[in-house]
Amino acid sequence: MRKPVIVGNWKMNKTVSEASQLLEEIKNLDLDSEVEAGVCTPAIDLLVAKEKLEDTGVNFGAQNMYFEESGAFTGEISPTMLTDIGAKYVILGHSERREYFKEDDELINKKVISALDHGLTPILCCGESLEEREADKQEDKVKSQIEADLKDVSSEDIEKVIIAYEPIWAIGTGKTASSDDADKMCGFIRSIIEDKYGTDLSEKVRIQYGGSVKPNNVVELMGKENIDGALVGGASLKASDFESLVNFNK
Ligand code: 13P
Repeated sequence: MRKPVIVGNWKMNKTVSEASQLLEEIKNLDLDSEVEAGVCTPAIDLLVAKEKLEDTGVNFGAQNMYFEESGAFTGEISPTMLTDIGAKYVILGHSERREYFKEDDELINKKVISALDHGLTPILCCGESLEEREADKQEDKVKSQIEADLKDVSSEDIEKVIIAYEPIWAIGTGKTASSDDADKMCGFIRSIIEDKYGTDLSEKVRIQYGGSVKPNNVVELMGKENIDGALVGGASLKASDFESLVNFNK
């Protein structure tokens, strides 16, 4: 059985003082321990997350990192900086990083390998644009992303990767993929993993859906066979909504 995993992606929201307040609220939530929960905060909030979430069972992580451990890479944070403070996750290849910061699959692949080498859990994002969906190219797009981003990821490491299917047209738009469409794409992603790593390993990889997940649609989405979790933007910024999302089973 794959453990459900619900992670908040705060994106570029919450100053340290705002983060401190929200994390204090999250700390006091009564969350289902059968569900893996986490928040990926802006880098500047990570130490606050570490402090506030200690002993709560809620994990924390970053939204990006560079693949090198240290050096002359102005503005970047490294995997060792993340592991040093106990971060668990790093979101990689989010569509906003691909689109606004021109990250390509080659770079994302280096980051995925580096994250795994350092014991971080990469949350690897993939997904098609509206144009690609309208041209029925969603599978081609996602397949090319997944194959390139997971190049040289070993059989030992693949089950540590979380994949997030995030159709770009559903992000922050209030439009959710129908639960059947989301399930179909997550199943398709699993079949790509199966082709490369075999059935047993593909059954272990957790695949999240992301794109306007809210308390009112999480139950239906999580009820689908191939959807093992959610990567949540907007709705993760309110403690009570985050609670409803993690407690979808209650
Ligand atoms: P929203 O939940 O705000 O649509 O964002 C989804 C997302 O991009 C999570 O990474």
